[in-house]
Amino acid sequence: MSHQELVAAAETAREHAYAPYSGFLVGAAVLDDQGRVFAGANVENASYGLTICAERSAIILAVSAGVRRLKEMVVVTSVDPPSAPCGACRQVMLEFGPDMRVTAVGPVGQRTWTMVNLLPDAFGREDLNSGIK
Ligand code: THU
Repeated sequence: MSHQELVAAAETAREHAYAPYSGFLVGAAVLDDQGRVFAGANVENASYGLTICAERSAIILAVSAGVRRLKEMVVVTSVDPPSAPCGACRQVMLEFGPDMRVTAVGPVGQRTWTMVNLLPDAFGREDLNSGIK
């Protein structure tokens, strides 16, 4: 699975974005540690606050299929410069992809980050002294 194939998966998912309120269509695709790809789109709701971003859609699909470790994420929008993931998504991305490379793709160029770039001094599982079961 090449980076370009991940971009293509995100672009395809974006075609299914449900964004009648904002008109801002987003597609995201994640690559897991075994080379599997999962893609999602943003899904809005008449009760605006229930909207789910494309990044979390893709991650929830992956995790629901048994994935626990993500290596790369691509997010596709139509804006330039390419927009970065929102804060809520960054926290969810950290949970499953602390070493993940994240690339935002727009019509002109792209931007790439590490999770440390996106969410410095993050709260994570190591902060819980009760352990993860
Ligand atoms: N959105 C995403 O799907 N991902 C982002 O990184 C930023 C925002 C969605 C949420 C909402 O449907 C629309 O874009 C406008 O905020």
